[in-house]
Amino acid sequence: MKHKQYSAVIVGSGIAGLYAAIKLQKEANLPNGILIITKTQLIESNSKYAQGGMVCVMPENKLDSTTLHIEDTIKAGAGLTDRKVAEFISKNSAKVVKELQNFGVNFDRDENNKLKFTKEAAHSVNRILHAGGDATGFCIENALVQYLLLQKDVDVYEETLAVEILKDSNNIVRGLVAYNYEKNEYTVIEAPAVILATGGIGQLYRYTTNPDITTGDGIALAYRAGAIVKDMEFVQFHPTAFALSDKGTMFLISEAVRGEGAKLVDKNGHTFMEKYDKRLELAPRDVVTRAIYNEMKETGVSNVYLNATHISEEKFEKRFPTIYGTCKECGINPSKDYIPVSPSAHYFMGGIKTEVNGTTSLKGLYAIGEAACTGLHGANRLASNSILECAVTAYELVNYLKTLNLSAEKVNDEKIKRTIEFYEDNIQQNKNENIESMFRRLKDLMWNNAGIIRNADKLNKAKEEIDKMFIELGRTYKCYSRNEYEMRNMLSVAKVIVDFALSRKESRGAHYREDFPEKDMIAKSQQSIA
Ligand code: SIN
Repeated sequence: MKHKQYSAVIVGSGIAGLYAAIKLQKEANLPNGILIITKTQLIESNSKYAQGGMVCVMPENKLDSTTLHIEDTIKAGAGLTDRKVAEFISKNSAKVVKELQNFGVNFDRDENNKLKFTKEAAHSVNRILHAGGDATGFCIENALVQYLLLQKDVDVYEETLAVEILKDSNNIVRGLVAYNYEKNEYTVIEAPAVILATGGIGQLYRYTTNPDITTGDGIALAYRAGAIVKDMEFVQFHPTAFALSDKGTMFLISEAVRGEGAKLVDKNGHTFMEKYDKRLELAPRDVVTRAIYNEMKETGVSNVYLNATHISEEKFEKRFPTIYGTCKECGINPSKDYIPVSPSAHYFMGGIKTEVNGTTSLKGLYAIGEAACTGLHGANRLASNSILECAVTAYELVNYLKTLNLSAEKVNDEKIKRTIEFYEDNIQQNKNENIESMFRRLKDLMWNNAGIIRNADKLNKAKEEIDKMFIELGRTYKCYSRNEYEMRNMLSVAKVIVDFALSRKESRGAHYREDFPEKDMIAKSQQSIA
């Protein structure tokens, strides 16, 4: 097996990973350069599909303040947001936006060249920056990719997965094993800083707005290596994914459309949110999701509708070009027709427990972005806080890493040698033939049993099935395809989600137990044991 040395290896090429790579390259002393490992192409990531925007508390937005933003974040987090983290991230928002602009990101501006701010659910004022109308994620990701490609000393391995974190006999992370699934080739990467920026877990669920790369890889790797994970029961379901077909990966109809006044209606055009919450369509996401779920269940339909017909076609197309284009392709004119929508797994509040600078419970291992859990989101994320968190944590991580010696050393450790041996044999076993069916079964299981409405029976059933699927997969270390590694990771994460959901005997934020519908006022955040 090849061995390579870098000062830092970043796994994942979404906004958090790219931003960290650029800043590291510009500001840190990197005797051995940086490697980015990405599962498909550099430009592909979950960030790329973010539509609504990025929260920023800007001094020129006179209606806003960090106090207001912090309170909104804490309220949405249903009692589990870490106030200090919310304060830190809010207070650093203007700084990171300025830097993103320096790296070529152009947020939308009005005719007077002033930044435009929009609103989404549970925000008390307009404070969300957007780019390309509703293509914020793509615009930021693309600008960062272009900027990165101009930098020296950054290697990129595409079509490559990290499959094992290498921890030495002193419990220090010293690198990882990378697997190029196109070439069927393994490489040992030795690096004093291993940074996981692998995104979320949407693909664990039958319906999701996340692309097919979001299989919880980084979270699974860190957990397998013994890093503490936190808030794993909290999966956010977005209320309005485009429900035109029974596809697993669903196109998002941004909350910003409701921010611009669109109403949720049944097929006869009757609104229903007044039955559920006085904040109506702009109630927190978990509330709107459960309202839609309930309406669908009571009336036996598979979707409700979004009525945005008060917005002229010209305005809709300008403000939401991506949504407009997708709707039109499907024969829907949002200014004339109702848009069919239903809930879909969207974001993971849980993840690898970190500080705001990305440090984890394991020395040498860092996590940023959706794979990390800083405590900002608590039990339910406030819309558009995620890209902000990606940027602030990447920024702080680089500040931290700049203080360390990032010279890569050749690793000579017995424990690491033994781990590497698992990946070294040349035996090519047959690929698991059931893998496609396992994906479908796991996604259905998580959707039905660990989804929007949970109870002990459903969760216990899920636990049992996941255990059986682990046996069916038959792999603990080395797998024999990308799919097998993804399934190994998905099962690892699913098991922890279910365990955490079972032990939270209350309903809070995105975690709803019909057998424990009330909030337990003294319940706290849960985390795994080191
Ligand atoms: C949306 O545009 O509705 C999604 C924004 C987010 O998830 O923060």
